[in-house]
Amino acid sequence: MAAHIIDGKKISAGLRGNVADAVHRLKRDRGIVPGLAVVLVGNNPASEVYVRNKSKAVTEAGMRPLDRHLPDSISEAELLALIDALNADANVNGILVQLPLPRQIDPQKVIAAIDPDKDVDGFHPLNVGRLGSGSPALVPCTPLGCIILAKTVRPSLAGLEAVVIGRSNIVGKPVAQLLLAANATVTIAHSKTRDLAAVCRRADVLIAAIGQPEFVRGDWIKPGATVIDVGINRVPGEGGKSRIVGDVAHAEASAVAGAITPVPGGVGPMTIACLLVNTLRATCAQNGLPAPNLN
Ligand code: GUN
Repeated sequence: MAAHIIDGKKISAGLRGNVADAVHRLKRDRGIVPGLAVVLVGNNPASEVYVRNKSKAVTEAGMRPLDRHLPDSISEAELLALIDALNADANVNGILVQLPLPRQIDPQKVIAAIDPDKDVDGFHPLNVGRLGSGSPALVPCTPLGCIILAKTVRPSLAGLEAVVIGRSNIVGKPVAQLLLAANATVTIAHSKTRDLAAVCRRADVLIAAIGQPEFVRGDWIKPGATVIDVGINRVPGEGGKSRIVGDVAHAEASAVAGAITPVPGGVGPMTIACLLVNTLRATCAQNGLPAPNLN
């Protein structure tokens, strides 16, 4: 039987609607409008698209977008000075510095300069440590989106075998921490893993975050597994056009899996929805309010 397709577009739209409702109540009852500063350095075309989409979503949720577009030539010291100013600005509840950054800037230094309470990417070492040690934390957006999608078909992940392919700081490591926090038995596989196919075949929940088009084949999937495909890869398509595919060979995998995310329309739209969730959570915490109810 063909797999259930986990509709990230629909699920993210529902979540964004819930965030917008909570933002509306926050404004009506407390006069608070969450503000998100998105910092883009240079003219990376992919980053420009991401940043534009993020700002649009922020506005649609009733939040205040505070975009800063800086030239490619900016120095590390200048960027750190801007971060300091945003940290001190009470109208800014969340700060996101779009990665990658130009060569002359050390991304770790920039991430560490962001106020951890405004770190809506969840990349600051303090938030990474909080997530790892089970304390309340701002959690990276794409991993959070993956878990929300997986839980739509597996409400309890407790005791399940979860395999994450990829060990990046943005996706692989934090999604593994979230799975562990949800009591899954977690394996992190990567480019040096021996017999990756056999490792994947153990997975009740498989999260593919490799960055290689259609790398995971159908016969790597355990029958009935939940497959979350984080990949967004552009490949040549028909008639000289390009098309977007994931890290999983979707047609093959969906013949075996129980449920699978499509690409596009799976994890991608969840990342922005979770950025809005994090901005709202950060705003509530900064104002001494309880975490918002987004159900
Ligand atoms: N570049 C690619 N993904 C991300 C992300 O989640 N956050 C930031 N800041 N930059 C990125």
